[in-house]
Amino acid sequence: MKFFIDTAEISDIRELAASGLVDGVTTNPSLIAKSGRKILDVIAEICAVVPGPVSAEVAATEYDQMLREAAVLRKIAANVAVKVPLTPDGLRACKTLSSDGAMVNVTLCFSAAQALLAAKAGASFISPFVGRLDDIGQDGMELIADIVEIYRNYPHFKTEVLVASVRSPMHVITAAKIGADVATVPPSVLRGLYKHPLTDKGLAAFLADWKGTGQHIIAP
Ligand code: G3P
Repeated sequence: MKFFIDTAEISDIRELAASGLVDGVTTNPSLIAKSGRKILDVIAEICAVVPGPVSAEVAATEYDQMLREAAVLRKIAANVAVKVPLTPDGLRACKTLSSDGAMVNVTLCFSAAQALLAAKAGASFISPFVGRLDDIGQDGMELIADIVEIYRNYPHFKTEVLVASVRSPMHVITAAKIGADVATVPPSVLRGLYKHPLTDKGLAAFLADWKGTGQHIIAP
């Protein structure tokens, strides 16, 4: 399973990328706004830190303008994935861009039918928002299971299931059990994946016992 980080905060991206566990980054207009930075600057900086796909979202809602914005975003770096919304214009742009060799991430997916359309449009990634479905009382992970099942029935679909709107480590684990390709996680959730109280407790005991031996693996 690939891990992307869902943020436009370059300090978090630098820190987490050093772990060697980060395969890509996703941003959206809200995350760019939160960073307080200009989209072209921040995407260029992220692309220089993380070699994997870096999603940068168009702001246009109309096909021709989406293509114009996509051309600007694609010029930033070869690892930019153009993010388009799951609308008729967005999927039309997805088809055009993917036919032209661009990586395209189709975002704001909330149904299996939408995911099927995105795969037919040649998307590299489909982004179902599990947390926002949970928020309205629907099980976001059921949608992930449905999409994974549907895509497996059609091996010629090359679209990867990118679980988005992830809110907790349990979302990541459930997505991995289902077999989703990618989870894009906020920095806090990625940090949370490391945590277990028995790891901390066990390490403290090992260190105390080791100190008692008076030994050093490397002479001080
Ligand atoms: O990747 C999409 C994600 O950023 C949305 O997350 O928490 O705003 O629903 P959230």
